[in-house]
Amino acid sequence: MSTTGQDVLSVRDLRVWYGTERGAARAVDGVSFDLRPGEILGLVGESGCGKTTLGRGLLGLLPRGAFVDGDVTFKGKPMPAVASKEYRALRGAELGMIFQEPMTRLNPLMRISEHFEETVRAHHPGVSRERVRHAALEVLRVMGIPPTRYRSYPHEFSGGMRQRLTIALALVLRPAFIVADEPTTALDVLVEAQIIKILADLRREFDTSLLLITHNLGIVSEACDRVAVMYAGRIVEIGDARQVFRSPQHPYTQELLRSTISLSTTGLSFIPGSPPDLVDPPAGCRFHPRCPHAMRVCATQAPVPLEVAGGQRVECWLHGPESQVPPGGGEPLHVREELSVADEA
Ligand SMILES: Nc1ncnc2c1ncn2[C@@H]1O[C@H](COP(=O)(O)OP(=O)(O)O)[C@@H](O)[C@H]1O
Ligand code: SF4
Ligand SMILES: [Mg+2]
Repeated sequence: MSTTGQDVLSVRDLRVWYGTERGAARAVDGVSFDLRPGEILGLVGESGCGKTTLGRGLLGLLPRGAFVDGDVTFKGKPMPAVASKEYRALRGAELGMIFQEPMTRLNPLMRISEHFEETVRAHHPGVSRERVRHAALEVLRVMGIPPTRYRSYPHEFSGGMRQRLTIALALVLRPAFIVADEPTTALDVLVEAQIIKILADLRREFDTSLLLITHNLGIVSEACDRVAVMYAGRIVEIGDARQVFRSPQHPYTQELLRSTISLSTTGLSFIPGSPPDLVDPPAGCRFHPRCPHAMRVCATQAPVPLEVAGGQRVECWLHGPESQVPPGGGEPLHVREELSVADEA
């Protein structure tokens, strides 16, 4: 994992913790990755693993009181503090967010044209209506929305069209980096396919880098260059999307892929158990209570991230440096047996 001057985004050891009555929920707990210009990085993992927190943390859109630590470099410079004027200038102009529910972005009382005017003028005050229209119609064209709809209201559009509008709004200032948090979850399959195609076309038209959060692994394999798999606040595997799908190295990725495949073929199959409570996650590897390959060492020591064949980076003792496994640490943990005994008790 090298930092090159060409990366749009470099994230090092990012942590985001929420204060709760029971203590800190470590929703993002030491995440590092890079994003290149025009690259689409898929972010997958079960609910509650910290994907939304990571995406929002990168854009500074966290609730008040969230604790953030780590280094985020944007276009080679440290990301300015969220509260600063520099940051506000960056946001909207250079950073964008697409939400699951388009109406969180659209004001029902405002025409589409007014949405574009407001967005553009927030960063270029005094720009003429005609110039806004020109820029807006270009992004609307890419989204497949005819210019005749420019003065319509949001309720005059279908759900899929509204989501395309929010993408167009996110794009009108040509941001270098966009986070899309489950942008197609609320849409039907056909519309979803259209939106994904549009997102994949973005890099050609706008050279925008995208962090695409989704639970749909089919989307990732179609649209993403790389994929990051998140579990309990950490990226446990990251690499070329095709390579990871062809040859997943982390047991969690393997289980995630298996559960998705069997869902479409044999019906009910899912990873037994659920992601841990992030206020008090398991010691060692956080996946160890659910991992079919868990060894003794996994229950006490966190695995060291390592690059494996194919350029994937994996956090798992199966791939860890053997020299660091303590004597006897490679013995199986027999977690499944212990679990089933406990269940019967
Ligand atoms: N505002 C908040 N306050 C406290 N805990 C939160 C808050 N938002 C999210 N969390 C917790 O952070 C963890 C990660 O949540 P989230 O980032 O939404 O995961 P995902 O998007 O992968 O489902 C969860 O355990 C969730 O309960
Ligand atoms: S470190 Fe151990 S428990 Fe964690 S995924 Fe690898 S084998 Fe499983
Ligand atoms: Mg989420």
